[in-house]
Amino acid sequence: MTIHIGANPGEIAETVLLPGDPYRAKWAAETFLDNPVLVNEVRGMLGFTGMWRGNRVTIHGSGMGMPSLSIYANELIRDYGAKTLIRIGSCGGMQDSVEVRDVILAMTASTLGTPSRGIFRELSFAPCADWSLLHAAARAAEDKGVRTHVGGIYSSDVFYDERPDLNEQMVRHGVLGVEMEAAELYILAARHKCRALAVLTVSDHLLTGAALPSAERETSFGDMVEIALHAAFP
Ligand code: HPA
Repeated sequence: MTIHIGANPGEIAETVLLPGDPYRAKWAAETFLDNPVLVNEVRGMLGFTGMWRGNRVTIHGSGMGMPSLSIYANELIRDYGAKTLIRIGSCGGMQDSVEVRDVILAMTASTLGTPSRGIFRELSFAPCADWSLLHAAARAAEDKGVRTHVGGIYSSDVFYDERPDLNEQMVRHGVLGVEMEAAELYILAARHKCRALAVLTVSDHLLTGAALPSAERETSFGDMVEIALHAAFP
């Protein structure tokens, strides 16, 4: 057990899918895994371990924002030996070419600040996805026929943004979407020699104001889970 995860040693798989929402972790585990077992419920942050096509997988909530994700990813990696971590979540679209319900595979994640920001000081570190996961996810998305974009995203520290000029600069520089977790996940994976990827569904659009109808959110989320599982076990 760690401070934030109640699982016993050995109860977390080497491959972990990380939705922000713990109830999404429960839904994904019950929908896609064989014999899912609840391994964590400390602070309501649910985690389940089960099997997918003969492979052991944990699906664990990360919470919202990089400080929360950092806590769970650090403990999953350092204390439970997680090696492959795939965020599955939503993002806001930032380009006209990107539409609501499209999938974005985050090749890079720009950020103003992460819990790791302090160690880089003046250096602008470039958090990037693991190529083997990115490649396999792109193929899986193509096989599923999901409209997919591969490129840079922006990991913001705020949802209610009082500095819209930063979003404007991201749009100007071709960034595909905005979310709040991937950059720190990529930095932690780099530091601990793990593999990481963020698979994101566009749930709303900053330029058009469009939003994914709530009835479609579950289907889109299911597509992401499947893309992530195929990326981990191609
Ligand atoms: N901002 C930050 N995170 C998000 C957004 C957004 O507009 N949409 C979905 N996740």
